[in-house]
Amino acid sequence: MKSMSTNTQTRKKLIVGNWKMHFNMHESSIYVHKLSDMITSRRGVEVVLCPSFLALQSLSLQINRRQFKLGAQDCYWRDEGPFTGEVSATMLRGIVDYVIVGHSERRHHFHEHDRDIRHKMQAAIRNRLQPILCIGETADERARGETLHVIQDHLTNGLANTTAEELDQLVVAYEPVWAIGTGDDPAQHEVVEAVGEIRSHIKHMFGSAAASNLRVLYGGSVDVDNAMRHLSTRGVDGLLVGGASLQAHAFATIADMAHSSIKKGGEKQ
Ligand code: PGA
Repeated sequence: MKSMSTNTQTRKKLIVGNWKMHFNMHESSIYVHKLSDMITSRRGVEVVLCPSFLALQSLSLQINRRQFKLGAQDCYWRDEGPFTGEVSATMLRGIVDYVIVGHSERRHHFHEHDRDIRHKMQAAIRNRLQPILCIGETADERARGETLHVIQDHLTNGLANTTAEELDQLVVAYEPVWAIGTGDDPAQHEVVEAVGEIRSHIKHMFGSAAASNLRVLYGGSVDVDNAMRHLSTRGVDGLLVGGASLQAHAFATIADMAHSSIKKGGEKQ
């Protein structure tokens, strides 16, 4: 346990902006221009932008990688082949550092199942992209008191084919489905409990080193008003921001808060 809490200080904070299906190429480029003037590169904080597939290539030439990194919002799990409309992790290699896997909108609108998510995790790892595995309960599951079971299931199923060595760079985003895009916000003790369960389940599956290296993000209606509370929640290493990441000023403010939260964490020690 001791080494886990020490590692809280060494795990880099991660702030990820998931733009979902917003911004065409031109708008993406203007946004990044604005954001680069607002954000300073900060030790200990990594900022990742996840635009549409279309904008990834041009943004990869535009961004200063010391300021931001890029992530894809999804990937297909085969490396190539007759899969009309899909983009593989192999194609993303060299353009992005991260890829979001198993986002609840993929699970629910596009009927992605555990098997797809497991294969996508493998594809990301095989292609040396850092997967951000999204997990979390629906409103009904929460009402039935199943939150911790859902977390265990999502982790067990999503990571079934993975080894501890491959998990070196794993990021898990705890995103209660009922909090995404709704303005609803879980109480801090609920997030502490969920994030604690994530780390202890990873420890159970892969051992203490994997659990203490794991970065856990919170996502779901994060905005400038609640970001600092989430960032200072025990066990939370960063945020996955949807709606609020579409406003450059709000997103830059949240990234700055991540930096202040490191200082605060340091003072508390
Ligand atoms: P939201 O989205 O911040 O708009 O709730 C978060 C997400 O879906 O990752």
